[in-house]
Amino acid sequence: MPELSRRGLLLGGLAIAATGALGACTSPSSNRVTSTFGPPTRLSAAPGQSVVERTLVAKPATLDLGGTAVETWAFGDTAPGPLIRANAGDLLRIRFENQLPADTTVHWHGIALRNEADGVPGLTQNPITSGDSFLYEFTAPDPGTYFYHPHVGVQLDRGLYAPLIIDDPRETGGYDSEWVLVLDDWVDGTGRTPDDVLAELSAADGEDSGGMGGMDMGGKSMGDPPFGDAGDVAYPHYLINGRVPTAPDVLRGKPGERVRLRIINAGSDTLFTVALGGHRLTITHTDGYAVQPRETDALYIGMGERYDAIVTLEDGVFPLVAAPYGKKGQAMALVRTGAGSAPAPTVHLTELDGAILEANDLQPAESTRLPSRKPDATEMVHLSGQMAPYRWAINGAAYGKNDPILIDQGDRVRLQLMNMTQMTHPMHVHGHTFALPNGLRKDTVLVKPMSSLSVDLQADNPGSWMTHCHNIYHGEAGMMIALNYRT
Ligand code: C2O
Ligand code: CU
Repeated sequence: MPELSRRGLLLGGLAIAATGALGACTSPSSNRVTSTFGPPTRLSAAPGQSVVERTLVAKPATLDLGGTAVETWAFGDTAPGPLIRANAGDLLRIRFENQLPADTTVHWHGIALRNEADGVPGLTQNPITSGDSFLYEFTAPDPGTYFYHPHVGVQLDRGLYAPLIIDDPRETGGYDSEWVLVLDDWVDGTGRTPDDVLAELSAADGEDSGGMGGMDMGGKSMGDPPFGDAGDVAYPHYLINGRVPTAPDVLRGKPGERVRLRIINAGSDTLFTVALGGHRLTITHTDGYAVQPRETDALYIGMGERYDAIVTLEDGVFPLVAAPYGKKGQAMALVRTGAGSAPAPTVHLTELDGAILEANDLQPAESTRLPSRKPDATEMVHLSGQMAPYRWAINGAAYGKNDPILIDQGDRVRLQLMNMTQMTHPMHVHGHTFALPNGLRKDTVLVKPMSSLSVDLQADNPGSWMTHCHNIYHGEAGMMIALNYRT
């Protein structure tokens, strides 16, 4: 009976996914011999090093998205959660308490931190069980815009995300003020949870490949070039700073003021295009690293990516829009510097009709270039998978069944990202920043459908590092691999 065999297959798939999430499976070629971890070694401040101490609690919470109340999980009582801010070189000491009814961890996305604090269960620590706590201690070496989120299941698609900003004490600035803009796609507490969404996606079977199975495809259309299909899930809400467009976050400033925007895409399945009505943006950084400043009307930002931009404010009220690529609806915040009435939540920005900047259009600031060097090793990162059945893989198998990539400390390593799928994947490497072919430094990069991209990294941070698609559903369905230093 086909129903039974399909169900059998689905359960098999889930079992694999669960094994992967716990990291219990160790392949023979792995240098990792155990999947249980003791507490991380304690760090004390070096002479002259400042310590930033925080307590962070993950717990169930009822959030107001702007007239819509949702039951979810959050860091405290808000989403985004509390901003953590420090200077480059500071020691961060974060006491984390898990009050969720589930295992969790915290990952400090983009920070080149010590492996023990990276927050990946089964790879760098044990999962933190409900009611337990964990001490995250690490030095944040590089300034920039980062964020933090759990690294368990699809928890990121709940309210569990928050900005993390590392300041450069030597930076002169060149701006008057700063706004952090956290973009998100929201489903939790609207009748289904992210786990329900994953189950729906996983229920699509091979015989339905044209029709996407039982997945709710309402409101979703395929994206236009250049990124093709970049997301699978139609979300009921798109948010900026935790607010829906009908009750937006309001950012106040003065005409003529120069504001630094720190834009973070904390979405789980949504690539956004971003613009501020009536303004040009000067892009200054991506993923924490400085670029040669470049003006644009609008930019693309994939899941896990960050862009910083400077804008000189005009006089009035302006919509700041993040439009979900290939999907219906939009996220909006309001910029208010003077009199005027608010634009409609559905306002269409003409800035989004013209050229939209992507990472490739940027050049690195000279100071951020990796010293040029031939790669000592080239490692294949072969991405495969499809919607139906919903299975995603790296190097031929789902995480937990694929062989870790092994590299040597001190090497210049080239990762050959080969996307053999019909979707765009935001590929993220933990603990390192890589260089694109043009030298641009990033830790998360959009790899277009049926295309290949080579990125180079300096192997200077030993440990076991997750490398994965930051579409959280793809990652959970297998599109992850460990990048391990040989010991
Ligand atoms: Cu935001 Cu494994 O990453
Ligand atoms: Cu993906």
